[in-house]
Amino acid sequence: MFTRRAIIAALSAGVAMATLPAGPSFAQDVFKVGLILPMTGPFASTGRQVEAGARAYIAQHGDTVAGKKIELVVRDDAGTADQTRRIAQELVVNEGAGALAGFGLTPLALAVGPVATQAKVPAIVMAAATSSITEQSEFYVRSSGTLPQSAVPVATWALENDIKKVVTLVSDYGPGIDAETWFTREFTGKGGEIVEAVRVPLQNPDFAPFLQRVRDASPDAVFVFLPSGVGSLFMKQFAERGLADAGIKLIATGDVTDDDILNDMGQPALGAITGHFYAAAHDSPENKAYVEAFKAANKGMRPNFMSVGGYDGMHLIYAAIEATKGDTGGEALLEAMKGLSWTSPRGPISIDPETRDIVQNVYMREVKEVDGELQNVEFATYEAVKDPVKAAAASGN
Ligand code: PHB
Repeated sequence: MFTRRAIIAALSAGVAMATLPAGPSFAQDVFKVGLILPMTGPFASTGRQVEAGARAYIAQHGDTVAGKKIELVVRDDAGTADQTRRIAQELVVNEGAGALAGFGLTPLALAVGPVATQAKVPAIVMAAATSSITEQSEFYVRSSGTLPQSAVPVATWALENDIKKVVTLVSDYGPGIDAETWFTREFTGKGGEIVEAVRVPLQNPDFAPFLQRVRDASPDAVFVFLPSGVGSLFMKQFAERGLADAGIKLIATGDVTDDDILNDMGQPALGAITGHFYAAAHDSPENKAYVEAFKAANKGMRPNFMSVGGYDGMHLIYAAIEATKGDTGGEALLEAMKGLSWTSPRGPISIDPETRDIVQNVYMREVKEVDGELQNVEFATYEAVKDPVKAAAASGN
C-alpha cells in the first residue's frame, strides 16, 4: 500500500519531471490519455466497449488537435480498485499522462480521485455511474451518466402506465443503491407502492432465489438495475422462473438490456421497458455513422452505452485542447470542459459547469425485433435530464 505522503511525494516528483525543459521536441507535442479499464475479468465487456468507443473517436477525428498528438495508453485494472489506483499513479508519474479516463465500475472510479486531485489532471468518468463520484474530486468530469438520471424517468413512465406495485431488484453497491433510492423516491412520492426491495451481490450473482421472492410478492412490475454485461444471465433466469408468465412486467435501466449482449438474450427480453441515454437503434445521422464505423472497426460488434461514454469522453478532451489552443495544463483543460455542449451519437449533451456531470436526454425504449435483431426501440424522450441527486440538493429538496 502507498501512504498518502508517499503518493504526494511521488506525484510531485512526476510533476517536476514533466515541467523540466526540452526533452526531444516530438515528446512535448504528445498528449497522453491514460485509459484505465477492466480488460479482463467479469467486466471485460465494459473495457472492450469503452476502448473501442475512444478509438472510434480518434479514427473519425484524426489523432492531432491544436498541434498536440493524442496518444491513448490503455491499461487493464482487471476490475480491482487497488490496481486502478496504482496504474493511475504510474500513468501520471512515469508516463506523464495529461488526463486519466475510463473506470469501468464505481469503486474503480473512486480509487482515482485522490490521484487526479493531487496531480491536477482531469479524470474522465466514461463508464461508472454512481451519482456521488463527481463530488469526490474537482477533477472528475463525467461522459457516461448517473443511475438516478435513468431510474427517475422509468418511475415516471411506470406511474403513467398503470403500474402501481413494484419490487426493486438491484446489484448491492453504489449504482444499485442509487437506482433503488431514486426509483423509489419518485415512484412512492407520486402514489406508487414498493412491496419489496431486493439487493443481489455484485460478484457471481445467482438470481434464481431472488426472482422467486419477486414472484411470490406478485407485483405489477419488477424494476431492475444490474451492471453492463450481467443482463443475459438475469434474463435467462427471469424466463426460467416464469415471471413473465405470471404477468410481472420487466422495467429497468438500460444497463440490463445492454446492446452488446441484447441479441443473445433472445425471446425473454422482448417487451422489456427500459430508460437510458443511448441505444444503438437511436435514429439520427450522427448515430447511424457511429454504429456503422464502430461495427466496421470491431468485427461487427454492436456499440452499447459504454462505448459512447468512451467516444464522448474523447470529444471532451479534444474540445478542451482546442479551446485552450493547446494549453494542456490540467486546470486549464478542466475549466474548458465545464459547460461544453455538442451533438453526440446519443443526441444533444452538455457538461453541467457546476457539477461536471453530463446533461442528456433519457429515452424510454422497448425491446423489439427489428430486421431479425433485438433492439432497444425508443418511444419517448425526457429531454436534457440533469443528475437528479444534485438537482434536488441545489433546490433544497
Ligand atoms: C458502476 O459500477 O458505476 C456501473 C457499472 C456498470 C453499469 C452502470 C454503472 O452498467
